[in-house]
Parts: sequence; structure tokens; C-alpha cells
Amino acid sequence: MKVVVFGATGETGRLLTERTLRAGHTVTAFVRDPARMLIVHERLRVIRGDVLDPPSVERVIPGHDAVLSALGSTARNPAPVLSEGVQHILDAMERSRVRRIVALSAAGALGESAGFAIGNAGLRIFRMWLPQVYREHRKMLDELRRRELEWIAVRAVLLTNGAAKGRYRIAIEGIPRWGFRISRADVADFMIRQLTTDEFVRKMPATAY
Ligand SMILES: NC(=O)c1ccc[n+]([C@@H]2O[C@H](COP(=O)([O-])OP(=O)(O)OC[C@H]3O[C@@H](n4cnc5c(N)ncnc54)[C@H](OP(=O)(O)O)[C@@H]3O)[C@@H](O)[C@H]2O)c1
Repeated sequence: MKVVVFGATGETGRLLTERTLRAGHTVTAFVRDPARMLIVHERLRVIRGDVLDPPSVERVIPGHDAVLSALGSTARNPAPVLSEGVQHILDAMERSRVRRIVALSAAGALGESAGFAIGNAGLRIFRMWLPQVYREHRKMLDELRRRELEWIAVRAVLLTNGAAKGRYRIAIEGIPRWGFRISRADVADFMIRQLTTDEFVRKMPATAY
């Protein structure tokens, strides 16, 4: 497949790009600063753009089969990257008839329960610590729900930089019980699998060990 990766220079996005290439797909990495894209591959094309600049998003989407997003804003960079940026991506997809998007989101963004007291306390602390980040995720999830596209929103728990284990749990509602972390590599692999299966289309699976 021909896939656009948004957020390809981020911590998860780098792994997502590498592993999408390894899975045999052709990748267009949409990045703000191409100098920061250190992956070189014959099936990788790097395009400069900014998701808050609709024309640059509009230009990159046509000709692809699917979109992967590991975009994020941080407390230090509280730009509307997920609320407005992802909206620009979805608009461009609709115009160029690209149907599938797999977007990384955060467990807790829906106000969902972890299913156990310590987990719920942890989620509350994260939501109080990073209200802007969770608000952005919530807006992105609400926007996805409004679209007829084949969207899959992956609600990850705390991300680590550990190796892929290849084994993790999924919950469609809530969060896998006692699950509080998962590696970026496993999340990337789960996201890549969603390119070629309809199992979670228009769902928001949570992933955790
Ligand atoms: N950390 C956790 O434990 C955790 C848990 C669950 C979910 N999440 C979510 O997972 C996502 C990815 O996390 P991460 O740690 O990999 O994030 P990250 O390293 O901060 O990466 C974010 C990516 O978004 C890109 N970006 C930001 N603004 C952009 C813009 N205007 N146009 C184009 N690209 C833009 C960044 O580009 P630059 O490289 O140019 O800055 C970067 O590539 C985030 O949404 C995060 O909230 C995180």
C-alpha cells in the first residue's frame, strides 16, 4: 500500500515509519523539518509540510491508499495539531477519496474508566497534569466519529521505548484491566495491522500489556 505517515519525526512516528517500510508498504513521511528525518529507504519519500497549513496537507494526500497519524501536541507546544490538523487531513482524504486512517490517541481521552482504582487515579492525574493534551485528543476522537471514512483510533496507555513484545491486550470499551503501559513499537505494529483488516473500523481500541 501507499501510506502517508503524519508525525513521522516523533518518537512513535519514527518507529511507525520504519515498521511500515519493513511491512513492505511505500511511505510518504509528512514532516515539518526534513533534516530531522533520519530514515533513508528506497520506498520512503519525505515531504515538508505542516498540518496547520491546509494546502500542504491537501497536496500530500492524493495518490495514497491510507494514512497513519502519530501526531501530537505537547504542554510546551499546545498547538491545535489534533483538533484542527487532523480535521485538515480528514477533509483532504474526503476530497481525494482516500478512505482509511489509523490515528494514535490516548487512553483516558474519552473519560473512560481503567476498571481499577489505582488505574483510575492514574488517569485522573494525567488528565489534570496535561488537560490541553487530553482536550486535543478528545476533539480529534469527536471529529473522527463524525466522518464516514474508515477510521480507527488507537487509544494507547502510557508509551514506553521498550522492544516490541508482539503480545498485548485490546479493549474496545474502557482499557484492558491492569494495563498501564505498552511500547511504541507494539503500538506501531498494531496500527500497521489496521491498514489491512476491517476488524476495528470506526472503533477506538485501547492497547495495553
Ligand atoms: N507519551 C505517552 O505515554 C502517550 C500515551 C498515549 C498516547 N500518546 C499520544 O501519542 C501521540 C504520539 O506521541 P509521541 O510521544 O510519539 O509524540 P511526539 O514525539 O511529540 O511526536 C509528535 C509528532 O507530531 C508532529 N507535529 C507536531 N505538530 C505538527 C504540525 N503542526 N505539523 C506536522 N507535524 C506536527 C511532530 O513533529 P516535529 O518532530 O516537527 O515536532 C512529531 O513528529 C501523541 O498524540 C501523544 O499524546 C502518548
